[in-house]
Amino acid sequence: MNILVTGGAGFIGSHTCVELLNAGEEVVVLDNLSNSSEKSLERVKEITGKELKFYKGDILDRDILGKIFAENKIDACIHFAGLKAVGESVQKPWEYYQNNISGTLTLVDVMRQNGCKNIIFSSSATVYGNPAEIPITENCPKGTCTNPYGWTKSMLEQILSDMQKADNEWNVILLRYFNPIGAHKSGHIGENPNGIPNNLMPYITQVAIGKLERLGVFGNDYDTPDGTGVRDYIHVVDLADGHVKALKKIRENAGLCIYNLGTGCGYSVLDIVKNFEEATGVKIPYDIKPRRAGDIATCYSDATKAKEELGWTAKYGIKEMCEDSWRWQSNNPNGYDD
Ligand code: NAD
Ligand code: UD1
Repeated sequence: MNILVTGGAGFIGSHTCVELLNAGEEVVVLDNLSNSSEKSLERVKEITGKELKFYKGDILDRDILGKIFAENKIDACIHFAGLKAVGESVQKPWEYYQNNISGTLTLVDVMRQNGCKNIIFSSSATVYGNPAEIPITENCPKGTCTNPYGWTKSMLEQILSDMQKADNEWNVILLRYFNPIGAHKSGHIGENPNGIPNNLMPYITQVAIGKLERLGVFGNDYDTPDGTGVRDYIHVVDLADGHVKALKKIRENAGLCIYNLGTGCGYSVLDIVKNFEEATGVKIPYDIKPRRAGDIATCYSDATKAKEELGWTAKYGIKEMCEDSWRWQSNNPNGYDD
């Protein structure tokens, strides 16, 4: 199939481009490079030995979207493009709603005008809010989000589901990611956060490389085995493979489908520190800090549905996630600027 990958130069997008090309799909990327570098796509080509087409532009721009559909016969869109920094979304809600919601509305409008009604959407475990059940199945009710970023995911799930209900020619696959970490085995592509990282693993790797001094552990008084927050970390290559598998549902004309993409295992912050130290031999000094606003104690998936319906399960464990995150960071201390 010919796949339009929006946000394909980003962290998850670039890894998904590798898996798509390896699976024999044709790839067209649209990215405005607001949070990424075109170098990631050069490296995707090096890793796979295959070509992809790149358009630098915005999902809010109807002209470039029209040009892409005029120049390529797109069968389906994997839609990663979006802003994703939780804290920034609280400061700039309009920018988040405009980029993520208006951007997606523009994209799907141009898609339907061009007769392409197949979309795989990057959603998040954040839509469960403080989850009503653990492990979280797809039947767990959606919850109250604590920030505008989370609401964009929750609202876009609703919008895409309503469109599919009204027009059953649409195939809408909502993938709810848990916590993606790791990097491609080659060490050539990986996560490249701007400024001081918000998320745990890039913070740890930057402490390990000496860019940051000490990790702050946000709270050790949660109702968890060691008091620190528990999450379901998933290797980004497994996550990428989940998208390739999700294309099966598009081929089957399956309508609306929702899947958790996680491993089903929960690790605490201190588990991650310990596993990282064991996997890399690098010590991570840390201090216990107050809880971070909006955090929950525990969040991990039941990923049985993706296994049964997509034939997908996560293959990589925590050791490889730590090793691969570290290989990327140590080979590229300044990300794509090296
Ligand atoms: P990323 O920032 O690395 O990738 C997103 C890409 O979209 C970037 O390359 C950026 O330049 C591009 N982009 C943003 N707005 C755009 C626009 N208006 N037009 C064109 N391109 C635009 O983020 P990621 O971690 O790869 O996340 C990909 C998707 O998965 C996002 O939608 C994110 O919200 C979602 N998600 C991420 C995580 C995570 O922890 N990384 C978890 C759950 C969901
Ligand atoms: C974050 C986002 C969530 C998004 C998810 C995707 C927040 C509040 N939530 O989830 O919307 O869908 O990423 O990956 O940002 N931690 C520390 N010290 C740090 C950083 C994190 O102790 O410097 C702890 C956190 O308190 C948490 C765990 O590490 O317990 C994981 O944090 P993080 O990587 O930011 O992910 P989430 O908060 O789960």
